[in-house]
Amino acid sequence: MNHDTCARISFWLNRRLHLGANEKSLVQGAFLHDFYLYDWHRRRSASRWHGFRHPAIALRNASASYSLDEREKNIIVSHMWPLTLTRPPHCREAALVCLADKGCSLHETLFRR
Ligand SMILES: [Fe+2]
Repeated sequence: MNHDTCARISFWLNRRLHLGANEKSLVQGAFLHDFYLYDWHRRRSASRWHGFRHPAIALRNASASYSLDEREKNIIVSHMWPLTLTRPPHCREAALVCLADKGCSLHETLFRR
């Protein structure tokens, strides 16, 4: 998924709907939400559970490289919800990125060649 697109859509939704999300956390979380650092299409062992596991892997990688606040951590770990049932979005920033990610994934599925 294109992180730039997800960040742009999240940012746009926040402004358009006057949701008042923290824009710095929103954008940083959106850029890092898929920071898992492998090609899940090529790694057979990774592809089986990728959808369930990659948010935690991305959070571990992002936390090792950047100083993240609680909103940013929640954005990363919850962006696959409801697939990751026990890790829902707890803040508006995480809900926005989760929603934008679904829209981007749907668009890629329908229109990617
Ligand atoms: Fe993801």
